[in-house]
Amino acid sequence: MSKMEVKTSLLDNMIGVGDMVLLEPLSEETLIDNLRKRFSHNEIYTYIGSVVISMNPYRSLPIYTADKVEEYRNRNFYELSPHIYALSDEAYRSLRDQDKDQCILITGESGTGKTEASKLVMSYVAAVCGKGQEVNKVKEQLLQSNPVLEAFGNAKTVRNDNSSRFGKYMDIEFDFKGDPLGGVISNYLLEKSRVVKQPRGERNFHIFYQLLSGASEGMLKKLKLDQDFSKYNYLSLDSATVNGLDDAANFRTLRNAMQIVGFLEEEVHSVLELVAAVLKLGNIEFKPESRVNGFEESRIKDKNDLKEMCELLGIEQLVLERAFSFRTVEAKMEKVSTTLNVAQAYYARDALAKNLYSRMFSWLVNRINESIKAKTTARKKVMGVLDIYGFEIFEDNSFEQFIINYCNEKLQQIFIELTLCEEQEEYIREGIEWTNIAYFNNAIICDLIENNQNGILAMLDEECLRPGTVTDETFLDKLNIVCAEHQHFESRLSKNSKFLTDHSLPHNCFRIQHYAGKVLYRVEGFVDKNNDLLYRDLSQAMYKANHRLMKLLFPEGNPAKVNLKRPPTAGFQFKASVGTLMRNLQTKNPNYIRCIKPNDKKAARVFSESLVSHQVRYLGLMENVRVRRAGYAFRQAYEPCLERYKMLCKPTWPHWKDLARKGVEVLFKDLNIPEEEFSYGRSKIFIRNPRTLFFLEERRRQCLEDLATLIQKIYRGWKCRTHFLLLKKSQVVVAAWYRRYAQQQKYKKIKNSTIVVQSFIRGWKARKILRELKYQKRCKQAASTIAAYWHGMLVRREYRKFFRANAGKKIYDFTIQKIIQKYFCDLKNTIPSMSPIDKSWPARPFQFLEGTHQHLRRIFHLWRGKQYRSHFTEEKKAIYEEKLEASKIFKDKKALYPGSVGQPFKGDYLEIDKNPKYQKLNIVLDEKLLLADVVNKVNRANGKGASRIFLLTKKNFVLADQKSGQVKASIPLPDLSSVSVSTHNDGFFALKLKQASASAAKGDFLLSSDRLIEIITKLHRTGAASGDREPITIDISDEFIVQFKQDKVCVKFIQGGSKNGNSVTCKRKNNRLLEVSVPSP
Ligand SMILES: Nc1ncnc2c1ncn2[C@@H]1O[C@H](COP(=O)(O)OP(=O)(O)OP(=O)(O)O)[C@@H](O)[C@H]1O
Ligand SMILES: [Mg+2]
Repeated sequence: MSKMEVKTSLLDNMIGVGDMVLLEPLSEETLIDNLRKRFSHNEIYTYIGSVVISMNPYRSLPIYTADKVEEYRNRNFYELSPHIYALSDEAYRSLRDQDKDQCILITGESGTGKTEASKLVMSYVAAVCGKGQEVNKVKEQLLQSNPVLEAFGNAKTVRNDNSSRFGKYMDIEFDFKGDPLGGVISNYLLEKSRVVKQPRGERNFHIFYQLLSGASEGMLKKLKLDQDFSKYNYLSLDSATVNGLDDAANFRTLRNAMQIVGFLEEEVHSVLELVAAVLKLGNIEFKPESRVNGFEESRIKDKNDLKEMCELLGIEQLVLERAFSFRTVEAKMEKVSTTLNVAQAYYARDALAKNLYSRMFSWLVNRINESIKAKTTARKKVMGVLDIYGFEIFEDNSFEQFIINYCNEKLQQIFIELTLCEEQEEYIREGIEWTNIAYFNNAIICDLIENNQNGILAMLDEECLRPGTVTDETFLDKLNIVCAEHQHFESRLSKNSKFLTDHSLPHNCFRIQHYAGKVLYRVEGFVDKNNDLLYRDLSQAMYKANHRLMKLLFPEGNPAKVNLKRPPTAGFQFKASVGTLMRNLQTKNPNYIRCIKPNDKKAARVFSESLVSHQVRYLGLMENVRVRRAGYAFRQAYEPCLERYKMLCKPTWPHWKDLARKGVEVLFKDLNIPEEEFSYGRSKIFIRNPRTLFFLEERRRQCLEDLATLIQKIYRGWKCRTHFLLLKKSQVVVAAWYRRYAQQQKYKKIKNSTIVVQSFIRGWKARKILRELKYQKRCKQAASTIAAYWHGMLVRREYRKFFRANAGKKIYDFTIQKIIQKYFCDLKNTIPSMSPIDKSWPARPFQFLEGTHQHLRRIFHLWRGKQYRSHFTEEKKAIYEEKLEASKIFKDKKALYPGSVGQPFKGDYLEIDKNPKYQKLNIVLDEKLLLADVVNKVNRANGKGASRIFLLTKKNFVLADQKSGQVKASIPLPDLSSVSVSTHNDGFFALKLKQASASAAKGDFLLSSDRLIEIITKLHRTGAASGDREPITIDISDEFIVQFKQDKVCVKFIQGGSKNGNSVTCKRKNNRLLEVSVPSP
């Protein structure tokens, strides 16, 4: 089962009764008994309807854990056992959900736990409201403003170790969804007299002790302070250390809190400098010094503290020193300077210290406000938490207590007004049947204090402003006259003689019967404190200080802005600000926490019945319960009531057209609510029992759940539908686009195909047309040709008679001329090469050119031959002559000849002069060498050959050994008679010598050489060249006789007989026959 579904009630496991409305029987005893019973079971909270009664447990209880916060979160007020969290939750939800600004009014006397309660409310709201980085920062700053203000504004008193010495009202601002945006703190009159003097058993403000015990040595040195409390006049020693208060740790907490709130390091330091300066100021002491005129003037005893203080605040020492000795009074352009006596100097010193401290405190509040103020101008919802100094009765009560108690009186007044008075008045106004319940209304006491004509504050102001000597006594005298008749005012000397003998009432005092008890006020100091005067010399000295805060704290010290008007008195200011506060609270929905302390000893588990019953009485708790029991737990105007619950019945839902009251009647009837449970007022419905309200709320919650389901259903349906419609719309768009795209593609395809088909058809058509056109053109050409011929024929026929005689010849000549021209032009291109042996000649084109053609051929050949000859050299000529000679000798006679035609006759094949081997031969040859070659000398014995060098000059031929170059024979050419060769294709030749010559003895030579043609031709030419000899005869036959030394041998050539195939062989057949076989051609 989920947490939300757990059905619990205030009535579950109840100790005593959780709500005193349920107390039976109702009497003061049972009420106190109930409180005691609950207190002893650690149930410190009890309800009276929606008012929370809180008992101070004086010890920490495990009821403020995160689990508890969760437990009370979003639960109905009466659902769980009473707790301050239930009230906080109710207030927060009402603010968040119903848009109602709230205020939490925490009342009770000093030490009852108001400040603690206010912190619990704030921490609960901080825990349940929105989260997030920015929101958390705001929360943290709001929460951390408490330690800062407590350090500077709280002190130990006899009633409370952490007593608030100032009033605090904090507006926490929220946005529309209930997230905190920031806050504004208002402070009310700090009890500044504590700075200079503390009653017995009490301490100065915490900060002084925290600074001295918590600051590091370095910091103390900077601030020129000493850790020892006893060194400072302003710090009372009797309770400098308080049990359970760790000043050093609290100092660290303070520093941390200041940092979180957003104080800069310099700002913190400046503030601490001021605190140090106040301590130093307290140590300045004065001594009297007589002057010549008999008056006494004050002098500072020891200037060291003054010097250090001036250094801390950046004040010129002399200026301050003078301000403590003289006082300048300005009146209508006149300045009068009077000396101060010692008492006045002390007064001035203390006034300065008090002002310095209280102004610094106000600056701190403003500075915190600057940090925590909401950063938006959007509309804000506000929850105000009021934690004011509690009602207090000391041994010695002064102006401060008077002010504090007045404030509490006003709060009680507002409580009475809103809960008791207003409630009863409302019943009457609304016409509800009602029997009045008597209760004490403290309006009369408020009037005694604040009445503008004869109220105590007005009297005090009057005294302060009155010319002439004004003292506290004259003020008391005035009160004695004006307030003497008042029931709640008592004084010894008042006309009301009943107090004349009351010794508990001293002469310089007056007593007021406050709602919470009688308080005796000593008038001493009332006038001064109300005047709150600070000598102008001092404020000007402070303004001149070279310190970042001093100009802000003492603006009236600015010489440029001298204001002769009196500043408003402290009492007046306080009354005005309390008035504003009350008006402010009245615009908000109030939530009450009424704090009670169980004992005076700050002790846990001690329940002092007398003390509690006193508080119960003055707080009017009994009346509260009675009114509550007789009355109605809840009321609401018809319109908002109908608006809130109209969904619970069909006729009123969703719209009710008639009057709201009728609607509510229908609604309640429909819901079967018993008639005794509610009443119809004129403009409101009154519900007697919270039960009924819870019933309505529960029904509404269920109904809202159903409605939420319905809304969700409709919303989901709507969302799905819109989503579907969107999808559909999108689908249509997508489909349209796709179709368009597909059609575009298809169209493109068709278009392309069409273009192709078109182009084919066009091509085909064009070709057809072209064909026709070509045909037509050809027809036209043919026609025109035929026409031309026809015309020509006609014309010729027509003109033949005129042409026949001359035209034929002319045309003939012209034609012939053209043909010849063409013939020559063609001949130019087809003319044969320049080679004389080139026999080619172009074909004859026309029959009639035959003669010319052959003629031209001959001319061309002759010209070619001439050209050829003209390019002949002498050497070439000789070679050709030799060749011609060879042709004459051998052509058609020897088969070897045709092979030699292509070989050039080189003559010297051995290059004898270059070859060193043939050096000897060179010497033999004294003439030009015509031929040098290697030949074969045929051995007559076996027909085999031996290589010989054959040399030929103009005069002789020489045979020499091929290897050694040894000359074998040198025969003069005249000795040579003839040369014999065969007709065949062989190289054999025989050189025959003349019988009678000198060389004949050697015999003829039978030689063979491949170059036979060249050798023989050269031999023949050499012989023919010399005119003195017969030319050498050359015999060409296949059989010839060779005369070797002794015998003659016949050399016979036969064809094809050889076995050696292709080579020529020579064989000796017998003594007389050498057979040479030559291969067949
Ligand atoms: N709910 C609580 N649980 C535990 N201790 C508490 C609680 N409420 C108060 N106290 C104790 O009582 C002391 C006094 O409480 P607190 O300072 O809130 O009183 P006060 O009503 O603000 O007094 P004053 O009017 O002097 O400022 C606290 O310091 C704390 O020790
Ligand atoms: Mg307090």
